[in-house]
Amino acid sequence: MPDTQYDLPFRPRRNRRSAALRGLMRETELSPAHLILPLFVTEGEDTRIPIGAMPGCYRLSLGNTLALAREAHSLGIPAVALFPALAEGSKDKRATESTNPDGLLQRTVRSLKDALPGLAVITDVAMDPYSSDGHDGYVENGEILNDITLEILAGMAVSQAEAGADLVAPSDMMDGRVGVIREALDDAGLTNTGILAYSAKYASSFYGPFREALDSAPRSGDKKTYQMDPANRREAMREVMLDVMEGADIVMVKPALAYLDVIADVASSVDVPVAAYQVSGEYAMIKAAAANGWLDEERAVAETLTAIRRAGADMILTYFAIDYARRMQ
Ligand code: PBG
Repeated sequence: MPDTQYDLPFRPRRNRRSAALRGLMRETELSPAHLILPLFVTEGEDTRIPIGAMPGCYRLSLGNTLALAREAHSLGIPAVALFPALAEGSKDKRATESTNPDGLLQRTVRSLKDALPGLAVITDVAMDPYSSDGHDGYVENGEILNDITLEILAGMAVSQAEAGADLVAPSDMMDGRVGVIREALDDAGLTNTGILAYSAKYASSFYGPFREALDSAPRSGDKKTYQMDPANRREAMREVMLDVMEGADIVMVKPALAYLDVIADVASSVDVPVAAYQVSGEYAMIKAAAANGWLDEERAVAETLTAIRRAGADMILTYFAIDYARRMQ
C-alpha cells in the first residue's frame, strides 16, 4: 500500500530500511579488539570463588586465570587487567606486599606473559588491595597522605613492570602520581612500560561489587578526598591534562555509562588514546535486571558498550568482554 500522502523533503528512515543499509550507515564499531577483560586473582589450587554481586565473575587461582586469559586471547581480546585479592594477614598500612617480587600479582603476571606473550597485561597501581586500611593511599590519623603514597605507588609500579606488565594503571587518584611513576620506571630502565592513568575517576557508588570481590572496602571514611565529585565535569579535564603532561600513555574515565559527557569531553581534547571502565556496579545492574527478566542482557551489553564507544572511548574495560566476544564468533 503506497505510503505517500505527504510530499516530505526529508525521509531519514530511508537509511534504516534494511540490515544492509543500516550496516553501511553505522557510525560506531564495537569489536572484541576494543575490550579489556578485568580478572580477579587469588591464591590456591583450582580455586574459583563466585562474587555475589557479580554473577559470572570469580576470584580465580593461577591455572583458572590462565585458562580464561587464553580464551580471551583466542577470542580477539587484546588485554587483561589484573586485580589481586589478598588474605587479610598479608595486608598492612604501607601495602608492603605490593612490592614482593614473588607476590601473587607478580607471579600471575610472569605466568601470563610466559604462556601468552601476545596478550597485553595491565596491572592496577593503588594501595587498596594491599592496605589494612582499605584505602588507595597511606592513612595517618584518618587522613590520606599524598606524597608518602607516591613513594609507595612508584615502588609498586616498578615491581609490576619488572614482573612483565605491559601497562601499569594507577587508579589511586593521588596528585602527581603519573609523573612520579614515570620517573621511577625510567630510572629502573623500564622505559617500555606504559602508563594507563585512571585520570577522571569519580567517587562512585558503582564500585560496590568490586570492593566485595577484593574485600577492599575502606575500613573507615570514604574516598571523597581523592576520587572526584560526580557533580564535576570541568575538573575532569584538569585531571586528564595533568596526567597527559606527566606522561600518561592512555587516559581513562571511570565509571563509564553515567559519565559519557566526560568521555566525550576528554576524547575531543586529548591526543592520547582514551579508555573507559564499565565498572562492577554497571555490570551488576545489567545482570540483576536480566536475571529478573526485566531486560535483554545481550542487547543491553551491546548497547551500553556501543554507547561508551560512541562517546569517544577507544577501549573499554568490561566484565562482559568474554560474553560479548563469544557472541561475536
Ligand atoms: C581500586 C580500584 C577500584 C576499582 C578499580 N580499581 C575500586 C575503588 O576505587 O574503590 C573499581 C572497579 C569496579 O568497580 O569494577 N583502586
